[in-house]
Amino acid sequence: MVTLLGISGSLRKGSLNTALMQAAAALPADGYRMEIAGINGIPLYDGDLEEAEGIPAAVTALKEKIIAADGVILFTPEYNNGIPGAFKNAIDWLSRPSSDMARVFGGKAFALVGASPGNFGTLLSQNAWLPVLHTLGCRTFSEKRLMVSRAHTLFDADGKLTDEATAKRLGDLLAAFAKFAEK
Ligand SMILES: Cc1cc2nc3c(=O)[nH]c(=O)nc-3n(C[C@H](O)[C@H](O)[C@H](O)COP(=O)(O)O)c2cc1C
Repeated sequence: MVTLLGISGSLRKGSLNTALMQAAAALPADGYRMEIAGINGIPLYDGDLEEAEGIPAAVTALKEKIIAADGVILFTPEYNNGIPGAFKNAIDWLSRPSSDMARVFGGKAFALVGASPGNFGTLLSQNAWLPVLHTLGCRTFSEKRLMVSRAHTLFDADGKLTDEATAKRLGDLLAAFAKFAEK
């Protein structure tokens, strides 16, 4: 059984990306199981803090989840046509100490998905993640992409995905990514 881990890059309770990740985890899964995680509780990266106190518990816990998974899906928002700082900060912590980077990221299958109220559905932040994942030594999934645009119109008041076309694209991506992660 392939294990996938979704990580939402938004801290917001009403996050569209977290809602999309929850919708992904609720889809019927064939041949894989999906767990979800977030980046709440991770402090701003500060080398002095690392030196004085080591790696924060929230970072270590997320690291272990990544290590246990066959594939990781980043549900990324887009801020100012780029990666939101909080999400990049979390990945920066996860890459510390650098001696641990290969254990966490090396050869690990990573996919990108994102939702935004705009028309381009996080296209530019997904593109901006590519060199970061490359640097970390990840195996990036490129067979399918999912940029969810006008995302605020696709969920009901409880944050449930109501758009069948998006749910289908999400399910197709997960199934293909699970096969990629299994290799
Ligand atoms: C500082 C800031 C910059 C933003 N820049 C973009 C942007 O470049 N492209 C975009 O599609 N949406 C942009 N947005 C809107 C976000 O896509 C929107 O707030 C979205 O809901 C954030 O993701 P979340 O719902 O998962 O928190 C921006 C929002 C903020 C707060």
